[in-house]
Amino acid sequence: MNTYDAIKTRRSTRKFKSEQIDNEQLSKIIDAGRAAPCGGNSQSTHFIVIRNKKVLDDLANLARDAFAKMEVHEDTYKSLKMSILSSKKGSYVFHYNAPVLIVTANKINYDNSMADCACAIENMMLEANDLDLGCCYINQLNWLSDDENVRAYMLKLGLAEDERIFASMVVGKADSKDGLPIRTERPITGNPVDYVD
Ligand SMILES: Cc1cc2nc3c(=O)[nH]c(=O)nc-3n(C[C@H](O)[C@H](O)[C@H](O)COP(=O)(O)O)c2cc1C
Repeated sequence: MNTYDAIKTRRSTRKFKSEQIDNEQLSKIIDAGRAAPCGGNSQSTHFIVIRNKKVLDDLANLARDAFAKMEVHEDTYKSLKMSILSSKKGSYVFHYNAPVLIVTANKINYDNSMADCACAIENMMLEANDLDLGCCYINQLNWLSDDENVRAYMLKLGLAEDERIFASMVVGKADSKDGLPIRTERPITGNPVDYVD
């Protein structure tokens, strides 16, 4: 798949098979993330790659508990609102039971932290698409990165005291008939462009 095709056919997958992906595929995805551009070549993005089912379940439970305690306001961002309301109902699993959750953290006192993490996530999603794997950007651990319980748990998994989670993604085999991720092109109706010649 060439770069343009990988970009144009990447779509978010939210249903996964439980089977684990190959180590070789995972290494390629992580390599792609580590090769992403970063501000000042700081290379401070920290990748925490979670494949342990108990840890994934623990994180889903911690996130659900944290969201369930939050209130929805008129101006609450729609995806956050959905996370809160689903958690209050008790059935919310933010990582869609994917076999792999890749968390990217970065320095708290570094202006490019989120940009660097997002560049890494996009590189990894494109590589996952090229490998015929499904993936999806996951924002919930960014929203919950200051939650006491989530932070304490992530510190045990290797998050450093001077780091915070900025972005995550899930990856796995898509739970589709042919095992491939959905690749239908998404109509682009926003993202205006002005050419100034
Ligand atoms: C910054 C960012 C945060 C996102 N957070 C989530 C998320 O938490 N959960 C989710 O299911 N999708 C998330 N997405 C995926 C978007 O919903 C998705 O990219 C968008 O609807 C376009 O659809 P597509 O990815 O299939 O092209 C996120 C995407 C971005 C770029």
